[in-house]
Amino acid sequence: MKRIVLFLTVLLLTFALVGCTSGADGGDGDAKTVGIAMPTKSSERWVDDGNNMVEQLEELGYKTDLQYAEDVVENQVSQIENMITKGVDVIVIASIDGEALTDVLDKAKNQDIPVISYDRLIMNSDHVSYYATFDNFKVGELQGQYIEEQLGLADGEGPFNIELFAGSPDDNNAYFFWDGAMSILQPYIDNGQLVVQSGQTDFKQGATLRWDGAKAQERMDNLLSAHYSNENIDVVYSPFDGISRGVISSLKAVGYGSGDTPMPIVTGQDAELASIKSIIAGEQTQTVFKDTRKLAESAVNMIESVLNDEEPEVNDTETYDNGVKVVPSNLLDPISIDAENYQEILVDSEYYSEDELN
Ligand code: GAL
Repeated sequence: MKRIVLFLTVLLLTFALVGCTSGADGGDGDAKTVGIAMPTKSSERWVDDGNNMVEQLEELGYKTDLQYAEDVVENQVSQIENMITKGVDVIVIASIDGEALTDVLDKAKNQDIPVISYDRLIMNSDHVSYYATFDNFKVGELQGQYIEEQLGLADGEGPFNIELFAGSPDDNNAYFFWDGAMSILQPYIDNGQLVVQSGQTDFKQGATLRWDGAKAQERMDNLLSAHYSNENIDVVYSPFDGISRGVISSLKAVGYGSGDTPMPIVTGQDAELASIKSIIAGEQTQTVFKDTRKLAESAVNMIESVLNDEEPEVNDTETYDNGVKVVPSNLLDPISIDAENYQEILVDSEYYSEDELN
């Protein structure tokens, strides 16, 4: 009997201690809830982001309410409204349209529910506590530098034909990727080593609403038929894997990647499984890996800090001005991936298993 009592006491004490150290419920058994609003399941990366956050938060004893809005802005707004009505304790948002959340964030503010911007900056609101993201300008630079190195542009090689794609104009990140890439490529366009046969060199002309691969494919079809009947294309600058795969479908349809017409260099971003497979198959050339496990960790750190009135780790308090305030940010390091290093960076770190890639 004594042994059972002792056992139960130890068990109770253990639970009490776990409760205290988790930070999620202050030991009173009433776990805090984190609302997580993600843009879409149609891109694999956001599924990973959501799962990683849920996993890490549940381990710490939080409850989660994870929602996907399938890229429909109104859905995301009403999902966030629901979270506010239910009284979640904090909301993490990867916005669809960064400009469309001002009103709903006012509601969160009225209910004292802190908001953390995840990967994409929420614009025009003072009610954004922190921003967890990657160095978005560097993502663009890595893509641009890859093209520069592969073509030997710094050694004066060229001219090469290139076409340029940009991300969604309602996503602040899209401008950072474009600016980063153009900081490398623009001088070579200016001096003629890179030639844009279509003449479409503005962000607006290359923009791809909602990062939609089908739209990119359609634009690529048009570019190829209008400007490349007598010319071959050597490079496509693409800021995101979903766009890259759309572009590649278009290129394959007119014979690139077979016979004596090689696939052009095609960049990308997110190291999505389908794109790593495409890189292994010799179609897509490059992508940029942004470890969603680390991004989730950075956001979870911010969540814990706002709930406990502490300061999270941030490393940039200057760059991300959302029109109302500069949002304190934690920027992680992106890594350029191609056929040479995917094994070391993605497989050795167990981001993907060999099985998944086969
Ligand atoms: C951006 C994000 C990229 C990519 C893109 C499309 O905001 O930073 O990594 O995922 O959206 O989903």
